[in-house]
Amino acid sequence: MDAKEKAGRRAAEFVEDGMTLGLGTGSTVHFSLLRLAERIREEGLSVRGVPTSVDTQDKAQGLGIPLVGLDEAEHLDLTIDGADEVDPDFHMIKGGGGALLREKVIASISRREVIAVVSAKLVDRLGRDFLLPVEVTPFALPVVSRALEALGCQPSMRMAEMDDPYETDNGNRILDCRFPDGIADAPGTERRIGMLPGVVESGLFIGLADVVVVGRAEGDCEILERGD
Ligand code: 5RP
Repeated sequence: MDAKEKAGRRAAEFVEDGMTLGLGTGSTVHFSLLRLAERIREEGLSVRGVPTSVDTQDKAQGLGIPLVGLDEAEHLDLTIDGADEVDPDFHMIKGGGGALLREKVIASISRREVIAVVSAKLVDRLGRDFLLPVEVTPFALPVVSRALEALGCQPSMRMAEMDDPYETDNGNRILDCRFPDGIADAPGTERRIGMLPGVVESGLFIGLADVVVVGRAEGDCEILERGD
């Protein structure tokens, strides 16, 4: 089993009977969904999930994981998600898969957020390697793009196949932002970007992760808890 599969499957062990779950997005969470479906079959777990993307909704439905909408779930007991980068304070960059908006909404109402990553995603400073995704309403793209440049980064439009701009599940675009020296002040950067008119959400997740499950090629996963 490779590191990603180990992390994804281990994260699903945090699920307990009766929980309402946030179901994240991405290739690591894919393994969490597989393991969750196994546990539902084998242990008779009764859970329901709120998916953070159309992709996860389709996968969960295909696996027989019961789903509900946010109108039926005021709080979530636990969310399992992935991340693109995690720093020592558990601040994260997310949105590589384009689901950052729904993922942040779900994280905001989750009592516990478990993040499954491979060890290469643990970084000292966010944004040195991974570009920060910013979801933008299409009308405002030129305005937001200039404002992001003024904040010191270089935004570029995420593209889909056939040279079309990538469109999120919410009908928006994504500007992937390069920070030449990485992001020195992640909480401040999240606030500044979030205040720009036309920005729907940024991929900076501040203070939202509680547990990080780190998958490694060799051996068991490492479980990091916030505040340890
Ligand atoms: C999607 C995300 C994903 O969780 C993140 O991109 C990690 O994905 P993967 O597990 O495929 O590496 O934030 O918006």
